[in-house]
Amino acid sequence: AVERTLSIIKPDAVAQNVIGEIYSRFERAGLQVVAARMTHLGREQAEGFYAVHRERPFFNALVEFMMSGPIMVQVLEGEDAIRKNREIMGATNPAEAEAGTIRHDYAESIDANAAHGSDSPETAATEIAFFFDSNDIHSRG
Ligand code: CMP
Repeated sequence: AVERTLSIIKPDAVAQNVIGEIYSRFERAGLQVVAARMTHLGREQAEGFYAVHRERPFFNALVEFMMSGPIMVQVLEGEDAIRKNREIMGATNPAEAEAGTIRHDYAESIDANAAHGSDSPETAATEIAFFFDSNDIHSRG
């Protein structure tokens, strides 16, 4: 099915100047960027976006990292977009990510892991709404 997913290029990857390189990977996989903006999260926003992880031991480090620099946020649309995006990103821990994936190529650690992608249709809907008004999403078929 055609799906939408929320993708974030995290501060470490933005700092490496590989936004375009990463967009090319999405496009080559048949995913379309249908909404996008650059932002720099404050604490409240970072905590809000990752609220489901609030009780995890890595929560504070995750929030600090996500506030450490600008990020690029986009909605990707296409057949099987959620799974495709996760495949392109590779495993959460870059030490386990397959060659040729974003995290293998650009991530330093499980904390600084270059990219985020929604993990289900339900979280995709919530995460997309966190960053974008429906008027700012432009499907082109
Ligand atoms: P992300 O897909 O953005 O979702 C939550 C983030 O928490 C994850 O990527 C990792 O960068 C970070 N994180 C740090 N430690 C862990 C862990 N042990 N398990 C899962 N995510 C972790």
